Amino acid sequence: MELPDKIFLIGFMGSGKSTHGKRLARLLNRPFIDLDHYIERKENKSIGEIFTKDGESHFRDLEKLYLNQVISRYAQSVISLGGGTPCFNDNMNTILKNGLPIYIQMSPEALFNRISNSANERPLLKGKTKEQSLDFINETLTEREKYYIKALIKVNGIDLTANKLAEELSLFIANN
Ligand code: S3P
Repeated sequence: MELPDKIFLIGFMGSGKSTHGKRLARLLNRPFIDLDHYIERKENKSIGEIFTKDGESHFRDLEKLYLNQVISRYAQSVISLGGGTPCFNDNMNTILKNGLPIYIQMSPEALFNRISNSANERPLLKGKTKEQSLDFINETLTEREKYYIKALIKVNGIDLTANKLAEELSLFIANN
């Protein structure tokens, strides 16, 4: 098997999709696209603004629209998706049809710690206490895992590096 044209990084908020995606793209010498940033550029609004002004369901429509746009616009690329992207509007089937998804796995506690230490805006956790956030992460991760685990490659997000991701890719390609 050849390296697929599109490598998608999927996983919960805070799992490091963007950071690792950027590094992996550099290593593979491919363009990197972060779907959330792409949406913000196209809509000229932050993700937070889209959630507050237009609501989550409108955000999910945009997410689907721009996922398809990115897929048709970039041939060989590394694409990091939003935490919810694979879990709405049949997007996981689109992802599987068009490339190779890698799921970056992490425990709810590790995710919470990483999200708390990040400056990124997370509309879904806005106004929640630590306990409420942990409950939300636990429940949402359980609901979403049925989509995430369809990824063809699963990696542990702790101590992950671009080299490790590239190794996993090579292994997968050699065996398929
Ligand atoms: C979301 C995750 C966010 C962003 C939006 C919704 C989610 O992306 O797409 O806030 O539903 O989990 P990150 O996973 O990059 O934070």
